Amino acid sequence: MNHDTSQIETLLSRLQTAGVAYIARTQGAREKIINHCYDLISSLELPSEAIMRLGWAEPARTANCRIAIDLEIFGHLKEGGKAGITVKKLATNCSADEILISRILKHLVAMKVVGENGQDTYSTTPLAEALTEAKYRDGIIFLHDVAGPSFQHLPKYLKNINYTCPTEITNGPFQAAHKTELSAFSWLDQHPPYLHAFNSYMTAYRAGKPSWVDPGFYPVAGRLIGGFNSNYSEAFLVDVGGGKGQDLHDLKEKYPQIPGKLILQDRAAVISTVSDDIFEAIPHDFFTAQPVKDARAYYLHSILHNWSDDDCVRILQQLKPAMRPGYSRLLLNEIVVPRQGPKWPVTSMDQLMLVLAAVQERTEADLTKLLKRAGFRIVQVYSHEFGQESLIEAEQDVE
Ligand SMILES: C[S@@+](CC[C@H](N)C(=O)[O-])C[C@H]1O[C@@H](n2cnc3c(N)ncnc32)[C@H](O)[C@@H]1O
Repeated sequence: MNHDTSQIETLLSRLQTAGVAYIARTQGAREKIINHCYDLISSLELPSEAIMRLGWAEPARTANCRIAIDLEIFGHLKEGGKAGITVKKLATNCSADEILISRILKHLVAMKVVGENGQDTYSTTPLAEALTEAKYRDGIIFLHDVAGPSFQHLPKYLKNINYTCPTEITNGPFQAAHKTELSAFSWLDQHPPYLHAFNSYMTAYRAGKPSWVDPGFYPVAGRLIGGFNSNYSEAFLVDVGGGKGQDLHDLKEKYPQIPGKLILQDRAAVISTVSDDIFEAIPHDFFTAQPVKDARAYYLHSILHNWSDDDCVRILQQLKPAMRPGYSRLLLNEIVVPRQGPKWPVTSMDQLMLVLAAVQERTEADLTKLLKRAGFRIVQVYSHEFGQESLIEAEQDVE
């Protein structure tokens, strides 16, 4: 196969420039290098190689990671330290067949998940080490066992419905895969280990990415702390559908001087697993009236993207009567899909929403329309150059 060498030359030169920026610790250089590497691989890889990688190398890596989690292999590798651990010892520790473990480990080494110190001796890597932590491990468990079968069912599901867009939250690829008529959230309630895995993974999936409370993103001090009035309510911010309170921790860590109360709301099944002293945790169904009145802000992170427009309008309308006009701010932390060239973290989240809930990520125009229907208008969209999500500040529409 003939490669366009001038294109490769351009990519290599971009890579080198990004490499220099990385050494100089320039923010965003790491992301640029990764993107240039993806571009290089897709320019150089033969179709036969790409199909092999997509078709079996990557599925096998994911499956092997899932098996390694069951067998606690990543923990054993970590215990082996720099010297590593032999496959014989690993197999004994896992009570598993040595040849099987050896085959799994070889693939995990080839796919850069595990390190190899010498023949039949394996060691940890930053990724393998992360997979000893519950919040990352639970991501593999949820994505392999719950999302994975939903993607497997997507082609057949779409064929059966003549390639129309699935729009029913209780009738989509997820239901076909898991043989249920429940929505994904209701199904999770009936499968506590997966509910736990989902909530746990939600605390990690954005780890290391720009957060709305980082300097240069959303002006928390100017827009929320300034003007806070405890005579209206002690409530500073209500995190609606806030999971285990990961965002409230982030906020408190970066702004320890938050002047009022932080309140976490989620479904009872989630709140019952939370105990914390930096916020008050209240079970609350966001399809019912918001019980906390006149808070400075009502914050919804990755909530609207789980729901259809009609459901989003219902969720937002439950907030409106609780909000003090001219004071309470509505904060939506969501992916805003660019009109052109969205990157894979955005497009793949859209695909994940398609298979799990028959819904989709939205553009700014979609969000503007949706908010208008619910009686709100966008004040400003705050984004970070290296982030995937934006903070959309909205207020009640007085027209
Ligand atoms: C995608 S997660 C986002 C969690 C958190 N806001 C974050 O961004 O890390 C969606 C959250 O909505 C919650 N949720 C779903 N249905 C709900 C309902 N009817 N009332 C309240 N919370 C709900 C889920 O339990 C889950 O924690």
